[in-house]
Amino acid sequence: MEQHLQQIIQRATSLLYWSAWGIFVIALSISIWVGTLLLHVKEGSRLIAKEYLHSPDSLKQDNISSVYQESWRPPDERTIPKNKKGELIRYGKELIVHTSVYLGPKGSVRKISNGMNCQNCHLEAGTKPFGNNYSAVASTYPKFRQRSGSVETISKRINDCFERSLNGQSLDTTSHEMRAMVAYMQWLGTRVKKGVKPKEAGLPELVSMHRAAEPEKGKRLYKQHCLVCHGVEGQGVLTESGKEYQFPPLWGNHSYNNGAGLYRLSRLAGYVKANMPFGASFDKPLLSDEEAWDLAAYINTMPRTDIRDGIMIYDWPDISGKPFDHPFGPFTDSFSETQHKYGPYEPIIDAHKKTK
Ligand code: HEC
Ligand code: HEC
Repeated sequence: MEQHLQQIIQRATSLLYWSAWGIFVIALSISIWVGTLLLHVKEGSRLIAKEYLHSPDSLKQDNISSVYQESWRPPDERTIPKNKKGELIRYGKELIVHTSVYLGPKGSVRKISNGMNCQNCHLEAGTKPFGNNYSAVASTYPKFRQRSGSVETISKRINDCFERSLNGQSLDTTSHEMRAMVAYMQWLGTRVKKGVKPKEAGLPELVSMHRAAEPEKGKRLYKQHCLVCHGVEGQGVLTESGKEYQFPPLWGNHSYNNGAGLYRLSRLAGYVKANMPFGASFDKPLLSDEEAWDLAAYINTMPRTDIRDGIMIYDWPDISGKPFDHPFGPFTDSFSETQHKYGPYEPIIDAHKKTK
């Protein structure tokens, strides 16, 4: 009897002992799990904060609330609705790809631009990663822009490119063509939340050089990598119909004018690095950053339409908003127009930081 009792007590103690261990182990794993979860959350917000802090000033002033961690891909074309709205979207895409056929010097709708297509610079109908794509248009417009000193709608921004990149005239904002291009851009941005700029939107920012970019070096590189398509005179090559370009012009009166985005060296160098020679991409570039800067310097040294006495007189109502590589004075700093155009930019950027 006593032996039996002893046995029961022994079993009870070992049961107690093992269950205590069991509870301890479970509690430990739960706290480890919760701990890692918390760390992850913290890490995530730190990453986002870091990306935001390190983003260029232009990003912040554009009211962008966050930068996507994931790559953006355009929506599937089969999801364009089969109704009036869908027709408008499809026409908008057609106008981006073959702008000149409709709105160029021999345009079937109106003759208001220089023969270039939007797609010449906004590659793959404005969908290529770092190919100057439109992924952030629907989500970030209307937005304040320093150049005009006003809040710009999508149609105002499109007209900026008509007047500068296509060296032409603006399009009536109520026209079928304008509504179509806006509808296409809005459809492209369907899945992008308001205020968000996708990771590979627009053009990449290259690291600036410690020296000024050199047109002479760029000229040699041009002959080696670009001349076959864009021509000895940078004049480009028209298609057989003559209605648009097979290879668009890089300078001269048929190319973008000196008030266009690409006339800023950082924009042109970023475009060239991530997209040229044709076939290159941001993850498989063919040129180094340095080569892209020198090429950009060469291209933007060549002649093109000057609009300084034209629409450009209304630009930059607040001159302190001019980006470091805007090549025309007056400036708030004491650097020359030449240094603003070709660099080195670091001293300019540093001086701007100090006055902020
Ligand atoms: C010669 C090159 C060129 C051509 C042609 C061109 N653009 Fe642009 N476009 C640019 C550059 C450069 C930018 C500014 C990119 C930057 O600052 O990062 C830009 C910006 C834009 C933006 C604003 C994008 C954003 O995310 O803020 C829109 C919208 C736009 N272009 C529409 C058009 C349309 C529509 C056409 C045709 C009618 C066109 N562009 C033709 C070079 C061009
Ligand atoms: C194989 C032919 C080819 C080569 C080589 C080439 N490009 Fe292009 N480039 C194109 C085509 C085609 C486009 C227009 C893309 C489109 O419409 O889809 C273009 C567009 C451009 C544009 C924007 C439109 C414009 O006219 O301003 C620039 C800038 C440019 N190329 C610069 C260069 C530079 C710099 C090089 C040399 C590093 C180069 N390209 C080499 C075919 C070429």
